[in-house]
Amino acid sequence: MLNRRMGFVMLIVIAATGFGLNIAIGSEAEEMTVPLGEIIIGPPEGVEPKRSPVSFPHGVHFDYACNQCHHMWEYDTEVQSCSTEGCHDAILSPIKAAAEGEEIEAYQYYKTAYHIMCISCHKEIKANNAELERTLGKLPDQLPATGPTGCIECHPKE
Ligand code: HEC
Ligand code: HEC
Ligand code: HEC
Repeated sequence: MLNRRMGFVMLIVIAATGFGLNIAIGSEAEEMTVPLGEIIIGPPEGVEPKRSPVSFPHGVHFDYACNQCHHMWEYDTEVQSCSTEGCHDAILSPIKAAAEGEEIEAYQYYKTAYHIMCISCHKEIKANNAELERTLGKLPDQLPATGPTGCIECHPKE
């Protein structure tokens, strides 16, 4: 497990000269292109958006294991989009879906899935940092970096 992850990090270091890279996985050497820069995440088709799309710096998150986010990925398969059918593909909230006679789980609603994943992680780091400062005093440059938690930081225009 650890070796495999280190293997990825090595490959990224070696190949991270352009935007996107190909990695060979497993003995069958299947190829996969990994976007390294910003991925623009917008709402799925059929949604009348209230907020601007989100610019997600993919590569900034590579300190984490890939399957922290791509939790259904099994290493020798293609990484699926979050909105793959049967995953986070519902475009109505459970309440609105129920009003239309459809029953869905909260995680299926794409907005909830993104918000839970993105915001909870950034909030958790902030909370840990606040706790460190509370116990150890101010450590301005030594606290772990975190990501945005405010609406307009991720959705810049109304
Ligand atoms: C912090 C969360 C996170 C981490 C960690 C992460 N990714 Fe992603 N990745 C995403 C999101 C979000 C998308 C956009 C998915 C979408 O559009 O549905 C994405 C997109 C991708 C895509 C394009 C998929 C497509 O739909 O074409 C690939 C390939 C990919 N990631 C591979 C990786 C690999 C390999 C790693 C580990 C080195 C990794 N990701 C780490 C969140 C993450
Ligand atoms: C498991 C934890 C985790 C998840 C999940 C996660 N992030 Fe982050 N994010 C971070 C950390 C840590 C940083 C700070 C990285 C750094 O600056 O080195 C960060 C930074 C960012 C930044 C700021 C980058 C910069 O250069 O200032 C943005 C924007 C961001 N994340 C968006 C997202 C979005 C959108 C998602 C969901 C698709 C997401 N993040 C999911 C941990 C996470
Ligand atoms: C860490 C980044 C992040 C933060 C912070 C964040 N969002 Fe989002 N939000 C997303 C992502 C990613 C999506 C899915 C892509 C999309 O639809 O734009 C999304 C989707 C949405 C949607 C559904 C799409 C639309 O435009 O109608 C709404 C509404 C929304 N967010 C409102 C908010 C509000 C209000 C806040 C503050 C309480 C907030 N978001 C904070 C990342 C974030």
